[in-house]
Amino acid sequence: MASRGAFSNKLGFILAAAGSAVGLGNIWKFPFEVGNGGGAAFVVLYLFFCFLLCFPVMISEIAIGRKTLRNPVGAFNELGFRNWRFVGMLGLFCGVLILSFYNVVAGWAFGYFIEMLFANFDVGSQFGDYIKDITKVGFYAILFMLTTAFIVSKGVSGGIEKAAKILMPTLIIMILGLVAYATTLPNAMKGISFYLVPDFSEINITVIGGALRQAFFSLSLGMGALITYGSYVSKNDNIISSAAYITLMDVGIAFIAGLMIFPFVAFNLGGDMTQVSEPGFGGPGLIFVTLPGVFATLGSTWGVIVGSFFFLLLSFAALTSTVSLLEVPVAYVVDEHKVNRNKAVWIVALIIFVIGIPSLLSGGYSEFLSNFSRIIGVPDVIDSDFLSFVAATADVLLLLGGCLIVFFAGYIWKKKNLHEEIAQGFNGYENSFVKKFLDFAVTILSPVVLAILFILVLLNNFFGITLI
Ligand code: TRP
Repeated sequence: MASRGAFSNKLGFILAAAGSAVGLGNIWKFPFEVGNGGGAAFVVLYLFFCFLLCFPVMISEIAIGRKTLRNPVGAFNELGFRNWRFVGMLGLFCGVLILSFYNVVAGWAFGYFIEMLFANFDVGSQFGDYIKDITKVGFYAILFMLTTAFIVSKGVSGGIEKAAKILMPTLIIMILGLVAYATTLPNAMKGISFYLVPDFSEINITVIGGALRQAFFSLSLGMGALITYGSYVSKNDNIISSAAYITLMDVGIAFIAGLMIFPFVAFNLGGDMTQVSEPGFGGPGLIFVTLPGVFATLGSTWGVIVGSFFFLLLSFAALTSTVSLLEVPVAYVVDEHKVNRNKAVWIVALIIFVIGIPSLLSGGYSEFLSNFSRIIGVPDVIDSDFLSFVAATADVLLLLGGCLIVFFAGYIWKKKNLHEEIAQGFNGYENSFVKKFLDFAVTILSPVVLAILFILVLLNNFFGITLI
């Protein structure tokens, strides 16, 4: 097994998994989902889902990976449940979908880094034209996929772990600095209260579904990314505390990213937060439209320094996530088809890049792809471009995958085996409160609630049917 690679220690694993979790999901997606979801009520639901419903899924994924030392497809096989390989396949499919569009957005982020270097702060107000410019965004997307493939080809501890160890801490410091600046701007408090003072009358199934989808996406759950990373974890490590750190880091960074962005948004909108969910401003463009203008207010020197550094770090955060997304299908091809790692990396990366081309063209270049869901009549339309459609599809599949994975852990593999795996590396697990909680969570709480919500969200987002 030595040739599969492994993380060098617990910190290495935590940072790599947190690196996977923390990415565009926290800084790009979370703020606009909060905007679409009406503000603070969404945030409350999101926190609730992360800590209660998703935590057992995360534990199950890591435990299954560490037990089997396999990719998501091979893992179910290894445990003796061939029929469950489809869950791994579903995960693989989902990961490919996510990486295909994620790489495009990561390319935008990197492109903005270059624009900021040249003090082009107007790029924010020209965001629509920017993503239409196919030679530019196409070039950055290719560059991003190449970089991702390069790191993954370097293997687990040399590439993935090293990158995460440097990038994660820098990102946190940078965002905190921007939060401090954000609160000094006019109308900052209007942004903060939109973000933090909940209006529970806003809650409906679209908001609930949005918060749950966001929780899964942000924690990198539901497709076996953490089965794969779990397979590189040592038997001496404590799975529960690792998962707790990963969740706290991910939720913490999303939370402070919100503290940074909403004052900026309020400043940009002159305090009128009603526009925050409007197409063109809200949605995938939110940070790309808002931030450059804010950096401009810092003056040309500081604007360039802070602006370029910010988008560079955002690109890095995205990179530790794209790496985890690529690692899953690569691990599958390496384990199950005995292809050499290097070759697997380049082939898989090329295929995913090609699958991402329609997303690349859906930023205005192609009329049809830019209005995709409206044209085919799917109601999940705050944004009807193909990229958003793929993102929404993948999100819903993550819920299904997560639900099946906990169900598998609780009932098929059996919770006794799950507990046994967790107990390794955790002295005193037997009599702990966590054990009692998981006992209930993997058999009842998570599978039942996730199954119900999956159905409600699917009907609501894709068929326009609202049962509650
Ligand atoms: N969690 C990452 C983010 O927030 C994206 C991501 C990476 C992901 N790997 C994943 C999402 C696996 C779902 C599944 O940006």
